[in-house]
Amino acid sequence: MKRLQKKSAIAIALGVSVLTMAPAIAQTDTQAEIERYREMLQDGNPADLTVMKGEALWKEKRGPKNASLEKCDLGKGPGVVKGAYAELPRYFADVDAVMDAESRIVHCMVTLQGFEKAEVIKKPFSGAGQKATDLEALAGYVVEESRGMPVNLPQNHPKEIAAYQRGERTFHYRGGPFDFSCASCHEGEGKRIRLQDLPDLTKPGPAQKAFTTWPAYRVSQGALRTMQWRMNDCFRQQRFPELKYGSQTSIDLITYLGVTAKGGKMDSPAIKR
Ligand code: HEC
Repeated sequence: MKRLQKKSAIAIALGVSVLTMAPAIAQTDTQAEIERYREMLQDGNPADLTVMKGEALWKEKRGPKNASLEKCDLGKGPGVVKGAYAELPRYFADVDAVMDAESRIVHCMVTLQGFEKAEVIKKPFSGAGQKATDLEALAGYVVEESRGMPVNLPQNHPKEIAAYQRGERTFHYRGGPFDFSCASCHEGEGKRIRLQDLPDLTKPGPAQKAFTTWPAYRVSQGALRTMQWRMNDCFRQQRFPELKYGSQTSIDLITYLGVTAKGGKMDSPAIKR
């Protein structure tokens, strides 16, 4: 009982209102404002600039091997970018592993261009208001090339199935100082933190909305944020140790989300608060 009281005290302190305790009017206003802002930016998503930078980077000869990324195989064959993001993460025979879009971009930078992996992933995310990192720009370009395409992660290879299954387990794995799992915040209806609705990511509808809109331009941070960033930031929300960029766990979680989101139409980079 005591433990329970302590937990709900923490939950309240954090502002997790499982009941509809947050002021409903403020909530509606905030949502309407964000919606209005999104509409205003619809024809001029600031992420467009990052996408353009990404496309230029993709085609530029760079690195010790002075090569472009144009022969990068994102799963649909060397050089095919169109529609690739909507089918990632997936299994790649050349590395005998499942990779998400960002890990595969890193892989191509290492194998085709000759960059050092440690160097490439040293600082994957830009600071608030800073210009996008190469990885952010490249991810933005790759995802833009899947806009409108249905999410369709393959689940054929045993390693693809295993990634999904581990992802599902990880999603429900509780731990850390608050004994939270992803599911503590993202399973069940009507949960929210402060004024943000928390999508139930175990359900196809909300999972589609989430998966199809990342990478996203975060207005509050003035930056394009990728799916790896989203996972990293939710690990932080969960008070878990820092999630490594491109780690197996990150790929497993993205696979779980992507498979749950099957059929949703890619609409990224989107604009988020
Ligand atoms: C303490 C609560 C909490 C935990 C635990 C948590 N998240 Fe989140 N999650 C959030 C918040 C808050 C947002 C952002 C909502 C916003 O900004 O509008 C979010 C957003 C997301 C989104 C984007 C949803 C969208 O539609 O844009 C995804 C995907 C996500 N979380 C996945 C996860 C995963 C995977 C885990 C487990 C590793 C996790 N979250 C753990 C609170 C949490």
